[in-house]
Amino acid sequence: MIGPLGVRLPPGMPAHVATSRHLCAAYPLVAEAGLGHEGVLIGRDVLGGSFVYDPFTLYRRGVVTNPNMVVIGQIGRGKSSFVKSYLWRQAVFGRSAWVIDPKGEYGPLCRAWGVTPVALRPGGPVRLNPLDTGEVVITEGGDRTDEHAARRTALTASLAVSCLGRDLLPRERAAIDAALAAADAAARTGSMLAPTLPQVVEALLDPGADAAAALRTTRAELVEDGRDVALELRRLVHGDLRGMFDGPTTEGLRLDGPLVVLDLSAVYHSPALGVLMACAAAWLQSAVRATHRNQILLVVDEAWAILGNLGVARWLQSSWKLSRALGVANIAILHRLSDLAAVGSAGSEQVGLAEGLLADSETRVVYAQSPGEVARTGELLGLTDTEADLVSTLHRGTALWKVGRRSFLVEHHLGRGERWMVDTDRAMADPGQAVLDDREPQW
Ligand SMILES: Nc1ncnc2c1ncn2[C@@H]1O[C@H](COP(=O)(O)OP(=O)(O)OP(=O)(O)O)[C@@H](O)[C@H]1O
Ligand SMILES: [Mg+2]
Repeated sequence: MIGPLGVRLPPGMPAHVATSRHLCAAYPLVAEAGLGHEGVLIGRDVLGGSFVYDPFTLYRRGVVTNPNMVVIGQIGRGKSSFVKSYLWRQAVFGRSAWVIDPKGEYGPLCRAWGVTPVALRPGGPVRLNPLDTGEVVITEGGDRTDEHAARRTALTASLAVSCLGRDLLPRERAAIDAALAAADAAARTGSMLAPTLPQVVEALLDPGADAAAALRTTRAELVEDGRDVALELRRLVHGDLRGMFDGPTTEGLRLDGPLVVLDLSAVYHSPALGVLMACAAAWLQSAVRATHRNQILLVVDEAWAILGNLGVARWLQSSWKLSRALGVANIAILHRLSDLAAVGSAGSEQVGLAEGLLADSETRVVYAQSPGEVARTGELLGLTDTEADLVSTLHRGTALWKVGRRSFLVEHHLGRGERWMVDTDRAMADPGQAVLDDREPQW
């Protein structure tokens, strides 16, 4: 007689009968019913069948309560390759993708789509205004809505926290509020859609008497309150990082295509990479709103740079929460979960943020982790002992997928026509091979 899972039972022993639902719980991975067939093909479920995934469908079906994803894995395990091919395959379903690309490696994907990456570099031709808040609604009295003001305040405060490397004092927060209001008024006078960082810095360094009176302080004191913040933000305006996020958004940027890539490779080695990525992410989120498109995939590659930085990590987490309202599925790519908690001791806010971000990302794709990381990964993701053991032995391209409470072992398959888009090993190939591989495919 054959029992569950094909085990041959000794004669006379009764077979155990269970519903498929119970079997799924008793034998995770092995007796998993799958996620259905709606979505894009990722590859092969190692324990049988193909693996198909779509966050929007799973959300509709109640399998996950948010569409966000975290992809974790050691260097060179195939994280970015998976994400690139996933975006490419999602385009078939009309989904667009917006990417923050700190290493400048999404160029081939852009070529495949026939779009040009937006390359940002200090003093370059393209500027993005992180204080753009998408569609600007002017109320009858002429004021912009509170929601836009609140988003600008949250972003400016986060940038200030990360530049200063400490939390803001109440008086600094008040100075930022006052400066944003003054910058907004200046922008309106100049018929601009949104204030810019130079206007905020200017308002911090030279506040009006009215602003001081509203805070029951003197102008000289208000200058003092905002001075440290102004001097740090000034780096983005006059310092080594100027010319990227310090003016109105350059006109004519094409945002209607299937893929928008912000290439930040020119500042990849800057200590301020996290702050710059946060500015880029803020702008992208506003642009997503302004284009009124639903079901957008927003990727932050090398997200450790943002998440290791308390100020901007806080902001990112709050914006992650907006994903459902905006119809955006966020994807963060990291090396290891300890990146999230790198500067935090147990129980610190940093660790809380890491846990919060994971809670807000119900799809976790885990590529191989070093043995030293496995315990931490297992703890934060709630892996079983078997899953945790597996994670240190996975080969390139194979990942443990945790989707809601369910687990899958998935081998990501690249199509012949996709390999050239994802190849980041070119520098490692022998020179002759590299030239050969550089050719685009014959479809
Ligand atoms: N499923 C796969 N099948 C075959 N080759 C793959 C697969 N996934 C990735 N590769 C190859 O592995 C190389 C490294 O992949 P990738 O750049 O995606 O790694 P990564 O995890 O993002 O690395 P890093 O942490 O350095 O960013 C690429 O050149 C890619 O072609
Ligand atoms: Mg990568």
